[in-house]
Amino acid sequence: MRALVLGKGGREHALAWSLRLGGAEVFALPGSDGMRDVAEPVAGDPGDAAQVLAAVRRLSIDLVVPGPEELLVKGVAEDLRAQGAAVFGPDRLGAQLESSKAYAKTLLRAAGIETAAASLCRDYGEVEQTLAMHPTRTVVKADGLAAGKGVIVADDAAGARRAARRLLHQYGTVLLEERLRGPEASLIALCAGEDFVLLPPAQDHKRLLRGDQGPNTGGMGAVCPVPLPLGAEEIAERTIAPLLRLLAQRGTPYQGALYAGLILTPQGAMVIEYNVRFGDPEAQAILPAMRESLLPWLYGAARGELPRSSPLADVATACVVMAAEGYPEDPQTGAVITGIAAAAEEALVFHAGTRLGPQGYETAGGRVLCLVGRGDDPAAARAAAYSAVSRVQFAGAQWRDDIGIAAAR
Ligand code: AMP
Ligand code: GLY
Repeated sequence: MRALVLGKGGREHALAWSLRLGGAEVFALPGSDGMRDVAEPVAGDPGDAAQVLAAVRRLSIDLVVPGPEELLVKGVAEDLRAQGAAVFGPDRLGAQLESSKAYAKTLLRAAGIETAAASLCRDYGEVEQTLAMHPTRTVVKADGLAAGKGVIVADDAAGARRAARRLLHQYGTVLLEERLRGPEASLIALCAGEDFVLLPPAQDHKRLLRGDQGPNTGGMGAVCPVPLPLGAEEIAERTIAPLLRLLAQRGTPYQGALYAGLILTPQGAMVIEYNVRFGDPEAQAILPAMRESLLPWLYGAARGELPRSSPLADVATACVVMAAEGYPEDPQTGAVITGIAAAAEEALVFHAGTRLGPQGYETAGGRVLCLVGRGDDPAAARAAAYSAVSRVQFAGAQWRDDIGIAAAR
């Protein structure tokens, strides 16, 4: 079995790690030097289906796993599939669940799934009208892919007006959504038509600073598994199964990872977004929590034969992201990193944004390294992750010191 992961970040490193665990020979396009422990980098542009197809043929690839949403939205999975490749990931239409918040809301309503109330606004007049009627719809979302920068959670209507003005100007259309309160959880299903299996639920830490303060980021850490009220299966029956049924009934079955972003409110779990891929950094926490490789599920789904049993969490994990100086606004690159080998004795090290320079690895992106501790319980996982963090040094490194504190209590 020869697998090709598309992308180059921490999530893709974790995917390659999991596929390697299943005995696959793994390539990553473009990958990075930091992934060489599990995957061989292949030069090329993962957004160019013709280049990827050439690599698939040249390397006799059996399974392609795209990491980032941009590739799916662009239709790389669909185009490769049309050429006969086995690909784990949705077509263009399926990917719109993530690229258009308005499309996702329409489907959620049609499928009868619980979600935050929202209004679509095409101009500032509509924003004013909505807030006059619904002053608590203060979460402003751009209706397009915005790489984590398209959601502003405002405290009040005045803040929402300011945010809406800015996002309207940038993106043309915004969604004003009811602000929900409660812990968040990421529930990811591996899907093939109406069939799906669940991965153990995880929790991301999106804000830059401890105690969920500071700006939103791509994610500063994650833990797995996390308990869900009612249990993951029951929540998936309400948040994932109806959507897959609806898409299948419409003749556009969904294949790939479907990630439901949930807020656990006192009224129950509500969907705030769907993503059409593995979360980053959730994947780095979820995949190492399982003893098994995801290979049989990803390959099975790509061929329409998803195994029925769910992969289960065997251990607890905590993933701490070390980010570059200036992240998220203006990440600085080129700082020399030391201590990676020592960290690897305590935890798994997934490279998110590094490159090999004359003095070894250096920073090359906003999120630099993901250190994943594993343990029999959340406290042990957390201790292992932070023990690894203490070994790594680079100028201006930023990380949160409270990843998994709640889980470890
Ligand atoms: P999204 O890109 O939709 O995941 O939103 C980014 C973050 O904004 C989420 O992880 C939440 O922390 C927050 N958020 C999104 N929608 C809501 C909502 N309706 N109520 C409260 N917080 C939200
Ligand atoms: N960690 C959030 C995401 O991948 O969208």
